[in-house]
Parts: sequence; C-alpha cells; structure tokens
Amino acid sequence: MSKKNDNQAQNATGEATRRDFCLGAVGAGVGVAALAVPVCAGAKMALYPLQQEGLSGKEYELTTLDALDETPRQFVIADNLNDAWATEANQTIGVVYLRRVGEAVEAFQSICPHAGCRIKAGKMKHPVSGEEQTLYFCPCHGDVFELNGERVNPETTKSARSMDSLETRIEGGKVFVKFQNFQLGTAEKKPV
Ligand code: FES
Repeated sequence: MSKKNDNQAQNATGEATRRDFCLGAVGAGVGVAALAVPVCAGAKMALYPLQQEGLSGKEYELTTLDALDETPRQFVIADNLNDAWATEANQTIGVVYLRRVGEAVEAFQSICPHAGCRIKAGKMKHPVSGEEQTLYFCPCHGDVFELNGERVNPETTKSARSMDSLETRIEGGKVFVKFQNFQLGTAEKKPV
C-alpha cells in the first residue's frame, strides 16, 4: 500500500502554475516554450516516460474522502525519478482532478486527450444549456467536458475521446489513485 507523503501529493487548488503550463505544453508536443525552460518541473518526465521509470499504474495516496466535495480539485503527483547517475527526489510527474460523488471519488487525468494541454476546471456557461456551472475546459482548442469527463459536443470537439479517468480506491477514508498517462490524439484510451 502506498504511504501518504505530503511532498508527493500536494493540493494544487487555484490558478495554473508555471509548472502546470510546462507539463501541459510538453505533453501537447508544442513544447517550444517549455523546452526552452529546462528547469520546469515535469520536463524530465516528458523525456523519461512513466513506464520507463516503472511508475505507470503506481498508486498514490492523495487525500481523504472527507476533504473532497463535488467540485473538482487538482492534486499534484510527485515521485523520485532515476537516471544512470542519480535520483531526483520529489519530481512532479502529473496532475489529477478529484471530486467526491456520494461515497465514491472520480479521478481524471488533467492532460487533454487531444494534444496534451492542461485541462482547467471552473465555472462557465454550459455550451448547450447556457447555464452557469462548473465544467472542465481545455484552453488550447476550447474543448469542454462535463463533470463526468464526457465531451459536451462530441461532434465538434477536437478530442477523440472523453477525459481520461483514473482508477481510485478508498480505504479507511483515504483516497488512492492509480496514476497513468495515455496516448494523445486517439479515440482509444491507451496507457503509455
Ligand atoms: S489540446 Fe485540448 S482541445 Fe486541443
């Protein structure tokens, strides 16, 4: 079982950080700006995929069920990364959204399945109903996703699939998430 480590799972509620931008841009394959700033946390992860690090599918304890409600919150996932020479401790490997649904927890990758930008969550006018509500949206090409991760307009969105859900487990009131990255630009959800 994973041990909770505050350094590995940091509540990242709030506006996008510079680190968020770097992760999203690198994932999008539009990483000119990100690659020009090699100090950005997460840049290394783009070069050393989770599978190579043996981290794909690893479970992380992120929070407690009581700490969550129906509004999505971001959590940063960090772990130790290794290369031939050294171990870099507590490096950011991803960001996930968690929200409580009854006695369960929904978890989504924050990486957009279209081209890898960082998906945001916030109140906005629903593109179909026009009602003001909390939705997920991608700032790069404007895709909007329902709180359950489904595309609001599958016919017109750039993403070929819904947001990538992640497996969760609750034990003793603690929330664990199995973290993975997925192939971009495909209708099929394929771990990478
Ligand atoms: S990267 Fe999200 S809509 Fe294109």
